[in-house]
Amino acid sequence: MNVIVTGGAGFIGSHVARLLVNKYPDSRIIVVDALTYAGNPANLDDVRRKPNFRFVKADICDFEAILALMREEKVDGVIHLAAETHVDRSIRDPFVFARTNVMGTLSLLEAARRYWGETGGFTAPDGGRRLFYHISTDEVYGALDLTCPEGVVPEFAPAGAHPAYGKDFFTEDLKYSPHSPYSASKASSDHFVRSYHDTYGMPTLVTNCSNNYGPYQFPEKLIPLVINNIRTRREIPVYGRGENVRDWLHVEDHARAVDLVFHRGEPGSTYNIGGFNEWKNIDIIRLIIKVADRLLGRKEGEDLGLVTFVRDRAGHDLRYAIDSSKIRRELGWTPEYSFEEGIEQTVRWYLTNTAWLDAVTSGEYLKYYDSMYGV
Ligand code: NAD
Ligand code: DAU
Repeated sequence: MNVIVTGGAGFIGSHVARLLVNKYPDSRIIVVDALTYAGNPANLDDVRRKPNFRFVKADICDFEAILALMREEKVDGVIHLAAETHVDRSIRDPFVFARTNVMGTLSLLEAARRYWGETGGFTAPDGGRRLFYHISTDEVYGALDLTCPEGVVPEFAPAGAHPAYGKDFFTEDLKYSPHSPYSASKASSDHFVRSYHDTYGMPTLVTNCSNNYGPYQFPEKLIPLVINNIRTRREIPVYGRGENVRDWLHVEDHARAVDLVFHRGEPGSTYNIGGFNEWKNIDIIRLIIKVADRLLGRKEGEDLGLVTFVRDRAGHDLRYAIDSSKIRRELGWTPEYSFEEGIEQTVRWYLTNTAWLDAVTSGEYLKYYDSMYGV
């Protein structure tokens, strides 16, 4: 297949592109990315020269450019990850979230519908399905309680994992209830994607995933920010009392789920992806300090003093918890990383790849792009 991966120079997109390029040498993987502050071509260094890989700098809102690319590459599938993704930025500047996440997704959907319409519809010439796969987030479901006493034990929750904090979970049939401009924009884009399935019969897929962690995440997000601040001995800002709960999944496990859904998911379906791995922010921060202090050869707990409680995020969702039973039951997906293993690998990666961290925090990588791709 010839597959466009939008947002492939970002955190999750680069892992998805890497997996597909390496696993499917006969497929062509075309990364489309506008290279905003969050996009970094260095994230793709190890696959850049592979013959089945191409990078195209383009904005998903540029309908003509995307349509021309689809025609040129005879695209069979789109895996759509490009987005504005940071909740705090969405609180400061909601417009760019509506532009990229809502209008950009709609523009991409319309380009796919137009191109596939020109070339025989939603079935490829070899009989295979044309697919539009939209990557979304658990944040569209809203927030859960910390203490909900009632609920159904998720079928695939590992023993001991339930109830970590509350007895309620996000399931695929839950009504959307987004709270931040970011999650509202993702919810809107999810609705547009489903409308293309229901209205035009486009084979669409949607997955809603929990918080990802791992290498190549922009250090405005909690985990790389904490590691970088420990490394450079700067304050670690904890919003509110650090009581909010997130369900953490290693990014490579998410990428494996994306591969599985793209190849085996039932068109028109939604799958929730998550690790049954809930942590309070303050607990995960303390754990990272412990691991980082050990790896840096510092005294255990030496950096606990960096923890600084700051004003809470506006509209801060209390708890996210995904019930990922459906993808486990129907597609046989299961995470491969244990959390202990994943967090150790992640902390080690950031402490080792300090040049990457320094470049993205200084903006140096934007110059790197010019020299790499001759723009
Ligand atoms: P990211 O911010 O690291 O990367 C986003 C990428 O999109 C960047 O490379 C950026 O340059 C590109 N981009 C932004 N606007 C663009 C535009 N207009 N045109 C083309 N490219 C554009 O994001 P991420 O954390 O890797 O998230 C990827 C996707 O996964 C997003 O859709 C996000 O909503 C979803 N998601 C993220 C998480 C998470 O924990 N990070 C969890 C669930 C779902
Ligand atoms: O749940 C999936 C979502 O996870 C994705 O859709 C988003 O794109 C991604 O950014 C992430 O959203 P969060 O808001 O959960 O992630 P973030 O890393 O910004 O924050 C994680 C938690 O840590 C959250 O409760 C806010 C808190 N936090 C965050 C930062 C950056 C702090 O306490 N201090 C901080 O400095």
